[in-house]
Amino acid sequence: MATVVLQVRDLAVEFSLRGSVARAVDGVGFDVRAGEIVGMVGESGSGKSVTMLALLGLVPRPGRIVAGSVRLRDIDLGTLSLRELAQLRGRQMALIPSDAGAALNPVTRIGAQVGEGLAAHLPDLPRAERPGRILDILRRVGLPRPEHQVRRYPHELSGGMQQRVAVAMGVQLGPDLLIADEPTTALDVTIQAQILRLLLDVREQSGTGILFVTHDMTTVAEICDRVLVMYAGQIVESGPVVEVCTAPAHPYTRALLDAIPPLGGDPPEQLTTIPGAPPDPRAWPAGCRFAERCWLRERLGNPEKCTSLAPDLADLESERRSRCHFTEAVVR
Ligand SMILES: Nc1ncnc2c1ncn2[C@@H]1O[C@H](COP(=O)(O)OP(=O)(O)O)[C@@H](O)[C@H]1O
Ligand SMILES: [Mg+2]
Repeated sequence: MATVVLQVRDLAVEFSLRGSVARAVDGVGFDVRAGEIVGMVGESGSGKSVTMLALLGLVPRPGRIVAGSVRLRDIDLGTLSLRELAQLRGRQMALIPSDAGAALNPVTRIGAQVGEGLAAHLPDLPRAERPGRILDILRRVGLPRPEHQVRRYPHELSGGMQQRVAVAMGVQLGPDLLIADEPTTALDVTIQAQILRLLLDVREQSGTGILFVTHDMTTVAEICDRVLVMYAGQIVESGPVVEVCTAPAHPYTRALLDAIPPLGGDPPEQLTTIPGAPPDPRAWPAGCRFAERCWLRERLGNPEKCTSLAPDLADLESERRSRCHFTEAVVR
């Protein structure tokens, strides 16, 4: 079995605002192995981005990590200084954001931006070799006519091309871990497919472990090996993609799958098709956090246990886990 590149245990992140505390990420734990693509899926607000930012040491104020540990290979990230963390980003772990246009520096030419990453992380690389390396990496991400693009500014590129540049910057040093937070959400379907294929190439060529965050179950099914389903700050189900998608063990996963539009339609911008809304992170319910919206609970005659007792993320067979008191009743 491949090496574990990322190990997350009991991670919790809180935002304190005007006397109230929102625990946006509440006890999240998982592994990513070398060469593996792990999907993290869930509705907007479920804590996916905050989890990713916590891994990178980039939780914005007033948020802070209040519990848990993150290990990148042998390194316990909790023991690093901000400066050491910054050095790790880019070289050993990299982020591909959802909005590359906003992440790229508007006043720096494309070539110089890609070159900055190279210079920062490979200071020994002879200056004369930098341009060649920059063109190589841009060619690898499928940017047309890279020798022309390096001279342009971000606003002169289409959204798809900007995203390719962001991917290039993310993958250029062959990081152990690549975090892609909704990297294709803003793009049209054809370009989405190209970016996804690119991530598959990167995994193939560099053995990079990829954490792929999305609200779209269809994308997860297409490219991920395993999936983590997030709801209200917690993982509610995890396991191999094929098994989770064909026989979900949590009612929320079932609802996400049922919300996928028919084949041929465009993926939805937001998942709005599950009735109701997630609970308020400032006051998580005492029992199951999905209980109020749960179709299974209703079908079972609203058992009291669902609202009184918080279910654990229980081990099922073959690497699968589910956080439901009635998992055996979900598979139909
Ligand atoms: N900057 C912030 N300030 C206060 N609360 C925040 C901030 N960012 C995120 N949160 C809280 O974290 C929750 C999860 O957000 P996020 O991780 O962005 O969700 P997702 O990426 O799954 O859509 C939000 O519902 C909100 O309560
Ligand atoms: Mg997000």
